[in-house]
Amino acid sequence: MSQKVKSVFVCSQCGGQSPKWSGKCPDCGEWNTFEEQNRTTSAAPNQTAEKAAKYQTTSVAAQTLSEISEMQDVRVSTGNEELDRVLGGGLVEGSVILLGGDPGVGKSTLLLQVAAQLSENCRVLYVSGEESARQIKMRANRLDVRQESLYVLAENSVESILAKCEALQPDVLVIDSIQTMVSEESASAPGTVSQVRQSAAAIIRYAKTSGTSTFLVGHVTKEGNLAGPRVLEHMVDTVLYFEGDTHSTHRLVRAIKNRFGAVNEIGVFAMTERGLKGVSNPSAIFLSQHSQPVPGSCVLVTLEGTRPLLVEIQALVDGGGPSPRRLSVGLERDRLAMLLAVLHRHAGVACMDQDVFVNAVGGVRISEPAADLAVLLAITSSLRGKALPKGFLAFGEVGLAGEIRPAPRGQERLKEAAKLGFSVAVVPRANAPKKPIEGLTVHAVERVDEAIDLIRREFE
Ligand code: TYD
Ligand code: MG
Repeated sequence: MSQKVKSVFVCSQCGGQSPKWSGKCPDCGEWNTFEEQNRTTSAAPNQTAEKAAKYQTTSVAAQTLSEISEMQDVRVSTGNEELDRVLGGGLVEGSVILLGGDPGVGKSTLLLQVAAQLSENCRVLYVSGEESARQIKMRANRLDVRQESLYVLAENSVESILAKCEALQPDVLVIDSIQTMVSEESASAPGTVSQVRQSAAAIIRYAKTSGTSTFLVGHVTKEGNLAGPRVLEHMVDTVLYFEGDTHSTHRLVRAIKNRFGAVNEIGVFAMTERGLKGVSNPSAIFLSQHSQPVPGSCVLVTLEGTRPLLVEIQALVDGGGPSPRRLSVGLERDRLAMLLAVLHRHAGVACMDQDVFVNAVGGVRISEPAADLAVLLAITSSLRGKALPKGFLAFGEVGLAGEIRPAPRGQERLKEAAKLGFSVAVVPRANAPKKPIEGLTVHAVERVDEAIDLIRREFE
């Protein structure tokens, strides 16, 4: 009987599978991402291994909730206040954390610092598939971290890493990076989605059975996805992303998934000559310093997690061609298109024939809708060539009907701005403070046209 070799096509973006090749992945919508894989060589043995692992973990009898003992997660401090904050109050024993980010943003730096810190109190193994042991040593010297008790290993093979782990029994394991790891279970090349998935699955299985807290580093593609292994996001407990402009000093670490804590906290770091330093009071770091107010700039207060952050939004509106461009950095482009439509329909300000560029200063990404009003005011300011006054800020969500909706915890935002010396604010009606805030004049508005009229009347 001749054995038929069956092949399967796997999307390199999301890991979706299909028996036939197709130009567009039906799962994630990406083009040209299908790679052919051999079922008999790679998929079949993995499936049995996965199944075996599944049966192992499900062999426990089902319990009612009341029978389960209430054990708090054991958390240890990483010795790094900002990282503890994003993790939801420290590292949970046995949890698996994926740290994603652009190349050069500081993933290896942060994890080497954290590994060294943790090695004071527990056994830590730092595995690098990208750098040699000597390179790690040089980096550690530069970072001036504790070196006596930190174990390092330059290795790519998952099987031999796990063998070393069995011998060393580390409490914390760092894998830098998952894209460089190769598992014998998979026949595909390193960095491909099936290889990354197999390697990660093997490491996660080890982490869960041994109770080893594990950090996996993942590179991000220029589209902002974790290269290939978006599937990893489902496999791990916590997903952290490093944000920030690699050319500027400040970096943010944001949790986008956390089985053990809130996901809205951010950690703020400054990249120095001696590694990443936590910034405990970050409210003013994303403001650029203009000596005089300039057109096209408006400051907003965002509230990420528990700390307010003042961020400058810059807009440039300039004569475009027949198909004008809309570009945004750090803000959603679709949201920008919506705001321009609202501005046109409800305030009569048209940018149809203009290129519109907006940017959140410092490489920070803003996802909360409270940025809308600041974006609109920066755009109108650039369009009219009139600067907003010194010490001005605005926030509020803009709706499709032209209404301005309140932002959560408005008082806190205003108080922080006043503390930093801001003197004029335009905010949604419902966010107007009941008691005056010293040094801050607050204008409350309900509609977009009202806000634009107010700016014209009071400040131009
Ligand atoms: P790195 O941690 O290697 O980035 P990743 O692992 O995310 O790819 O960070 C590298 C950048 O950080 C590099 O451009 C140099 C800079 N850097 C410092 O500014 N100070 C330092 O102490 C270190 C170690 C790196
Ligand atoms: Mg690195």
